[in-house]
Amino acid sequence: MAKQVSSVNYGLEKIFEGAEDFLPLLGTDYVEFYVGNAKQSAHFFKTAFGFQSYAYRGLETGSKDQVSYVLKQDKIRLVLTTPLNSKSPVNDHIVKHGDGVKVIALWVDDARSAFEETTKRGAKPYMEPKVEKDEKGEVVRSAIYTYGETVHMFVERKNYTGTFLPGFRKWESDYNPEPTGLKYIDHMVGNVGWGQMNTWVKWYEDVMGFVNFLSFDDKQIHTEYSALMSKVMSNGNGRIKFPINEPAEGIKKSQIEEYLDFYEGAGVQHLALATDDIIHTISELKARGVEFLPPPPQAYYDDIPRRLGSHMEMMKEDLKELQKLSILVDADEEGYLLQIFTKPLQDRPTLFFEIIQRMGARGFGAGNFKALFESIEREQAQRGTL
Ligand code: FE2
Repeated sequence: MAKQVSSVNYGLEKIFEGAEDFLPLLGTDYVEFYVGNAKQSAHFFKTAFGFQSYAYRGLETGSKDQVSYVLKQDKIRLVLTTPLNSKSPVNDHIVKHGDGVKVIALWVDDARSAFEETTKRGAKPYMEPKVEKDEKGEVVRSAIYTYGETVHMFVERKNYTGTFLPGFRKWESDYNPEPTGLKYIDHMVGNVGWGQMNTWVKWYEDVMGFVNFLSFDDKQIHTEYSALMSKVMSNGNGRIKFPINEPAEGIKKSQIEEYLDFYEGAGVQHLALATDDIIHTISELKARGVEFLPPPPQAYYDDIPRRLGSHMEMMKEDLKELQKLSILVDADEEGYLLQIFTKPLQDRPTLFFEIIQRMGARGFGAGNFKALFESIEREQAQRGTL
């Protein structure tokens, strides 16, 4: 297969050599979804994906206008927040966007400095540095807007030993489905409007000090009918990766445009959750009722040995088993990866999850884009939005 990426710059260490990282990020702290019914969403993420009950805030803890459930699986923390009345800004958000990601929280050593450094470089403030305390210590949080109404929250928790954040209590439940092997968030993808990708690439470079380490143009990401463009942004230590997509012109409607129509603006398209045993994870998720995009044709699997070349020998998984679960396979110079995409997680065709297992490869499955987008188009056609 022809080389799929137009520019590869995996040597992040080299790019950053000598440059001062003004926004050191320790990792992803949590991802907060605004949803119409957090209680029911929490049940879904526990049952279907194996997230564990972790923390809670609501009327019983003195929160009068919103309720939040925090779920955890290995390093992944999801917060599900719902409004308790129509005047809540959370309500405005879900009226417009439906259920979706509001906050991508980043773990930092100094939330005041993170706010100062990013706002002085042009970030629009969302929340001034704020100290929250309880008997277990204090947390400092600050936040800026990114694309659409999405927010990056900076969380400094080095002086805190409590469960999650002040204001939350430990959530203990009698209902504890087994985890499914999800480990950490590999990357989080944003969809932005027509002609906006480079604006946001520059924003991540200027405001957050990120670098663009992979780019895909519409000649690479297209099918017979539709197209999109994507650039992957990464922070200095490579722990945080944010691909940014924008729609491109095609004969029919781009899946990115469909997202923008239904989300009513820019927002988070998918979270990629990493596992180190994708066969186990996907078998579990399917048994628990998670729906995935329809499988690629037989020809896709027939072509894998050719596409993987020398990586085929190091592949531990049985290709037949991968095909049975409709798992996609791709490779780059450094290894291979296995991935699969869920259908949208809510009724609006907006947010979905990717499950990914990296076996050395650092790419994003460019070799799968065509097969993947043809699957999405079959779904779009059924929705009447292609
Ligand atoms: Fe992805």
